[in-house]
Amino acid sequence: MKYGDYLWWHKGVIYQIYPRSYKDSDGDGVGDLRGITEKLDYLKYLGVDALWISPIYPSPMADFGYDVSNYTGIHPLFGDMEDFDDLLKAVHKREMKLILDLVPNHSSNEHQWFRESRSSKDNPKRDWYIWRDPAADGGPPNNWLSVFGGPGWEYDETTGQYYYHSFLKEQPDLNWRNLEVQKAMLDVMRFWLEKGVDGFRVDVMWHMIKDDQFRDDPPNPNYHENMNSYSRQIPAYSTDQDEVHEIVHKMRRVIDDYDERLLIGEIYLPISKLVRYYGEDNRGAHLPFNFQLLQLPWEAAKIKAAISEYEGALPEHGWPNWVLGNHDNSRIASRVGKEQAKIAAMLLLSLRGTPTIYYGDELGMEDVNIPEEKIQDPQALNEPGVGRSRDPERTPMQWNDALNGGFTTGDPWLPLMENYREINVKNQRGTKGSMLEFHKRLLELRAKEPALYIGKYTPVPSTGNILAYLREFDADKFLMILNLGASEETFAPKLQWRGTVKIATHNELEGVHLEQSTNIAANQGLIIKID
Ligand code: NOJ
Ligand code: MG
Repeated sequence: MKYGDYLWWHKGVIYQIYPRSYKDSDGDGVGDLRGITEKLDYLKYLGVDALWISPIYPSPMADFGYDVSNYTGIHPLFGDMEDFDDLLKAVHKREMKLILDLVPNHSSNEHQWFRESRSSKDNPKRDWYIWRDPAADGGPPNNWLSVFGGPGWEYDETTGQYYYHSFLKEQPDLNWRNLEVQKAMLDVMRFWLEKGVDGFRVDVMWHMIKDDQFRDDPPNPNYHENMNSYSRQIPAYSTDQDEVHEIVHKMRRVIDDYDERLLIGEIYLPISKLVRYYGEDNRGAHLPFNFQLLQLPWEAAKIKAAISEYEGALPEHGWPNWVLGNHDNSRIASRVGKEQAKIAAMLLLSLRGTPTIYYGDELGMEDVNIPEEKIQDPQALNEPGVGRSRDPERTPMQWNDALNGGFTTGDPWLPLMENYREINVKNQRGTKGSMLEFHKRLLELRAKEPALYIGKYTPVPSTGNILAYLREFDADKFLMILNLGASEETFAPKLQWRGTVKIATHNELEGVHLEQSTNIAANQGLIIKID
């Protein structure tokens, strides 16, 4: 691609906001749209380019907004359409972008569509959802499971049939084989695109269409007892069907009717299957989310191999992306520890491809231990013991050292981390060496160096727990040296190099001139501009 062909989403950095937990403007203990608008100057200061907001639509909140009961409205908890329009305008005024969460695989059971669908077998919307007769013994039509535990089929007395739900029974799956469903959801996309939103993150894209013969999923030979019940089977027939790519392509066509909008897919699949979501000739999702950094052990050799595998598997002109945290996974600072969280930020913001930062990770926020009686997440409540709670990574943003970290004047929907009086935006902003300033400086450097935002990636062979690579564009070259371990390592590559440290985890190294063979302290990371 030529320099001028790169668009905002190739070059920019995405920041995910979990709206319930970002900033509460009205004291009800739940974050809202006005709260986000209040914090846009903070986000501008931080230096991110696009905001993705988890669902803000009307919803009974069985799965905290991922159960949508009206795709073109705003939940009163979050505000109203005027608040949304104000937010969108304010984002654009600051030359940032706004990405919404689209949840097309399933609606809420309280959506009007489902109410109609379940009312009778001959209702015009019957086929909008996935209804099947009971098996011969009266049980579920096949063995498909729910991600949140138990069977994926729910018996409905009214008509004596079962409906399928990949997640909660309050989240019936839409039938994407039905053309009216397709039209209705593509119209939803147009509704928001007309308003000016800059793109969508599509929820569970790989779930959207199921085997038309409803064949049983095979057992998972690697299942063991402390896994959640969904892991008993390989979802070979209930997810990732060939036909999904036609659907993704249809979504992309809608996106392409507008200027420079972005289509992201949430997809948890191995690389070889993931890259198919770019679509034939890149006519699918622009960015099928790459979750490897959420899943790999924190070891240089494994991460390096995964980067190479991913780089090698990308289709021509398929643009890479990297995700370090989200609302469904343990926070990075808890997974790898505080010291390594800085290395992780350097990695995320210097790999080739669009990075996504999860709110609060820029402060080093950690998972918060939620007492049992306060657990909110249905994934945990549904399968006590094995269903991992996602509450710990969804706690309120820590803004300052006032009560509740400045998140709310009311009673927060989830407790804050005890450390909020130390770890917060107010304390870290302008404080040299803080996690926040570190992020800000990484983002600043990245934004002004094409080598970092679009440059070529070349791995540099290294030993021990060192991960090293070059990023280059025209004559500009950066060498990244990251020590992913807690002991000192020697970095002595065959490659000849000399350069100046631009950003270091340990401030005193910045500006220092280095060359060739050097010792890298425990937990040390360096971004070096090659002379
Ligand atoms: C993926 C979302 O990220 C998660 O939070 C949600 O529970 C499921 N999809 C179901 O919508
Ligand atoms: Mg509120």
